[in-house]
Amino acid sequence: MVDDETRRQLIRAAQAARANAYARYSGFRVGAAVLAAGEVYAGCNVENASYGLTICAERVAVFAAVAAGQTRIDAVAVIGDSESLTAPCGACRQVLHEFGPEMDVIVVAGGAVAARRLDELLPLAFGPEDLAA
Ligand code: THU
Repeated sequence: MVDDETRRQLIRAAQAARANAYARYSGFRVGAAVLAAGEVYAGCNVENASYGLTICAERVAVFAAVAAGQTRIDAVAVIGDSESLTAPCGACRQVLHEFGPEMDVIVVAGGAVAARRLDELLPLAFGPEDLAA
């Protein structure tokens, strides 16, 4: 479990990224931030006129981390646009799992914060080890 200060840092980064959400179709703005080797990488959702090409904030944050050379993620924070908690969608859980099945998933809404380990949110996941010969 990441410490409280790191958790706050991730939440602040997710909030800042949410301000850049490109959510012109759904109007639902999401920010995410991942922690990898002590560095924070943020992302927002990016929608598209071809709706199915939309990408979630979590995946944008993961891909920013990987593009910077990271392959191990210790935590992710997500902040959505409603009073209820926005937990990562199924596709994002799978993408996150690739880089840290035991990572902390911190979900924020209003004043509420919930934290779970990713492997609680995606039990019996398919991962790299399943492809090992
Ligand atoms: N969205 C995210 O960015 N992350 C989630 O965890 C749930 C959904 C985005 C995708 C789309 O742009 C909008 O929220 C509505 O689904």
